[in-house]
Amino acid sequence: MRILKSSFAVVERRAEHAVKFFYSHLFWHNPGVRELFPASLEDMERQRDRLFAALTHVIAHLENETLVPYLRDLGRDHRKFMVGPEHYAAVGTSLIAALAETSGSAWHPQAEKAWSEAYQFIADAMIDGAALSEEPPWWDVEVVRHLLYGQDIAVLTLRPRAAFAHLPGQYASVSSGRVPTTWRTYSLGNAPRADGTLDLHVSRIEGGRLSTALVRDTRPGDVLRIGAAGGQMTFRREDRPVSLIAAGTGWAPVRAMLEDLAQHPPDQDVRLFVVARDAAHLYDRPLIDQCAAAFDWLSVTYITPAPGQHRNEATGRLATALSNRGLWPDQDVYLSGPPQFIQETSHLLEGLGARPDRIFYDSVPAGGRGQEDGDRPMGFGEWFLNRPAPHWHNPSGRAPREF
Ligand SMILES: Cc1cc2nc3c(=O)[nH]c(=O)nc-3n(C[C@H](O)[C@H](O)[C@H](O)COP(=O)(O)OP(=O)(O)OC[C@H]3O[C@@H](n4cnc5c(N)ncnc54)[C@H](O)[C@@H]3O)c2cc1C
Ligand code: HEM
Repeated sequence: MRILKSSFAVVERRAEHAVKFFYSHLFWHNPGVRELFPASLEDMERQRDRLFAALTHVIAHLENETLVPYLRDLGRDHRKFMVGPEHYAAVGTSLIAALAETSGSAWHPQAEKAWSEAYQFIADAMIDGAALSEEPPWWDVEVVRHLLYGQDIAVLTLRPRAAFAHLPGQYASVSSGRVPTTWRTYSLGNAPRADGTLDLHVSRIEGGRLSTALVRDTRPGDVLRIGAAGGQMTFRREDRPVSLIAAGTGWAPVRAMLEDLAQHPPDQDVRLFVVARDAAHLYDRPLIDQCAAAFDWLSVTYITPAPGQHRNEATGRLATALSNRGLWPDQDVYLSGPPQFIQETSHLLEGLGARPDRIFYDSVPAGGRGQEDGDRPMGFGEWFLNRPAPHWHNPSGRAPREF
């Protein structure tokens, strides 16, 4: 363990070099493996970040009991990337080669032995997870409805071709044949329904590959793929008041939780804060208003910028609204929205006294459901640097168009 950590510290300082070497080695010796990865260089950069973040996570938690369940889920989920047991040895060989090359004189036989054993442990757990899973590698889902709100938001209704289990608040990885080998996570916008259909609320990111395909190009009759549902943001029925804070299409998992609460009303009060940063209209506002009128346990606060104000102004308004509504230490808080929103709002809430262990969110894709708070395998890294401005909601405020 000590050997692993100290040799990884050397590699971490030259991580970029190590990761480039790793992929060059892998693809040079196993040309067929390149096809499993996204074609775009930007996605490969992101994958580089993920691999190292995942490795760091694994090394830091080698003695942690949540590690094996995490790795099993990760292995199960790798089947949708077309990864088979035969690929693990190739990745292991390239990883050891990259570590040796990057460590230089710090590399020695004990380090090689420790790394090979650690990798084997990881690979075995992932291969077992894949082999033991009774779930399909992915689910084919047919798009049965595509509602477009303005230019950049779509709500897609999907019908899985085989039974698909999920809990309100969870998300799933999604892929479209229009953008091969590209998987992104989207929250499931409904509580489980009798007919098994699922809603995705997709906000198009400028230049975003999958979100653009889903919002602009996808039509009823298209077949998408989704991976197993996962995520931490499922509702805990504790004996405490609850606040749900949603921004943009972060409303999707909150809507799923609210549907569930409507079917099984809570004993505690629920406060819903709906944030829209840059226009007056919210795409699901009629439904939210109906809920507010129908349920005495629910109160709703909308936070939008005043006309003519910059969208950042909504952040200021949110801060004011949250500080006006006290009792944060007693609350369970569920947060959903773009990563920056989650980061800012969780800091804000902690500043107001909310307990970090009672703030729940899923801000980064996780390989499984075994992580504890703060133990997430992927950091924000460079992913969010220089990102384009997100579209928070229906910019036109017009009624949706149905395809
Ligand atoms: C747990 C979880 C749940 C999610 N749920 C939803 C959901 O319900 N609805 C939804 O619309 N999206 C959701 N997302 C975001 C989604 O997974 C994608 O990141 C998003 O759709 C962009 O993918 P893309 O392929 O279109 O863009 P990419 O091609 O991946 O990215 C294009 C550019 O945009 C940047 N970028 C990527 N994501 C964002 C972002 N969110 N904000 C700003 N810039 C970004 C990238 O860095 C890149 O430079 C969720 C993400 C997570 C982690
Ligand atoms: C053994 C240790 C491994 C670890 C710790 C690991 C970790 C990860 C993680 C955390 C992700 C992101 C998960 C997600 O987006 O849902 C990922 C994605 C991926 N992994 Fe692995 N992985 C391992 C082995 C492999 C192997 C053997 C292959 C096959 C060559 C592989 C191919 C991929 C592919 C193709 C993706 C998707 C890339 C993308 O969407 O950009 N991985 N891996």
